[in-house]
Amino acid sequence: MTIALLAGDGIGPEVTAEAVKVSNAIAEVYGHEIEWRPALTGAAAIDAVGDPYPPETHEVCASSDAVLFGAIGLPRFDNDPSAKVRPEQGLLRMRKMLGLYANVRPTFVFESLIDNSPLKRDRIEGTDLVFVRELTGGIYFGERGRQDNNNTAFDTCTYTRDEIVRLARKGFELAMSRRKQLCLVDKANVLETSRLWRETVQSMEKEYPEVTVSYELVDAVAMRLIQWPKAYDVLITENLFGDILTDEASVISGSMGLMPSASIGSKVALYEPIHGSFPQATGKNIANPLATILSAAMLFEMSFNLKDEAEHIRKAVNQSLADMVVTEDLAGSNQAYGTSEVGDYLVAQIKK
Ligand code: IPM
Ligand code: MG
Repeated sequence: MTIALLAGDGIGPEVTAEAVKVSNAIAEVYGHEIEWRPALTGAAAIDAVGDPYPPETHEVCASSDAVLFGAIGLPRFDNDPSAKVRPEQGLLRMRKMLGLYANVRPTFVFESLIDNSPLKRDRIEGTDLVFVRELTGGIYFGERGRQDNNNTAFDTCTYTRDEIVRLARKGFELAMSRRKQLCLVDKANVLETSRLWRETVQSMEKEYPEVTVSYELVDAVAMRLIQWPKAYDVLITENLFGDILTDEASVISGSMGLMPSASIGSKVALYEPIHGSFPQATGKNIANPLATILSAAMLFEMSFNLKDEAEHIRKAVNQSLADMVVTEDLAGSNQAYGTSEVGDYLVAQIKK
């Protein structure tokens, strides 16, 4: 199997290095051969070749079986609204060019970490939900610009029925493999695009008679998601609502450093932690590698249908949490381990 390796910026190189170590251990135990194909992206690529997603990187991604991605973004770009080339543009272009239209972000809780969440135990215990966020349309990619001598700005949100159908289909299929509940999150009381989403999903219901579909407004979901997350199974939503709600959902799990994600389309799929590049931690060997390692587990499962391998990684992660071999974000008053020590521990667990 060939896997494009896009380490990116900040802690990206450190956390992906641990995911590579763990994946290689899995490959050794199960007799697979992984060819890692490193490529430049983000600020690292801007510095090297002036483009956050250079054509050579696209070539590597498009011709690999899957992509493992670290993180991109650096403060020197965030704090400069006039920067012409931004790392995030690379990410958006990559999603578009690779056709990664569905972002799958699970939210679950680890028993040993429940008390890390700012939410009360009884509210979140047993939470197991997945967002399927539309990733290549909507206001992120609509027409935008300035008018009126630069005094007016606009961004437009556009969706076609086809874009909605293909995203919703991923949601329905995922619901069928789980608890068979699907929630469409929209703002159909105000937005025309939301009304098209609602109408389209309603028309698909008959194809999936076993799935119970609910339709909820995004503002209400923002509230109910933290009040009673157990109410949800699979949630589908357009691009911007999904961006906001998936950050909110990550709080439920107690640590951003644990949550993996997959971006899928018709061709190659990409796997990445949901956290950012955490520049303050760069090079300090303190970043939590577990979200990237769990993203590698999703990669084995979703791109290669290797469920045992994925489960093996998750078991090792659970073991490191139970044994408190964790980085400082999770250590509390216990001794904190380094990024690479956590990776070494997982490798030892896997090879045992
Ligand atoms: C995400 C991020 C990106 C997004 C940014 C970095 C462009 O927040 O993956 O959720 O908004 O999609
Ligand atoms: Mg986001």
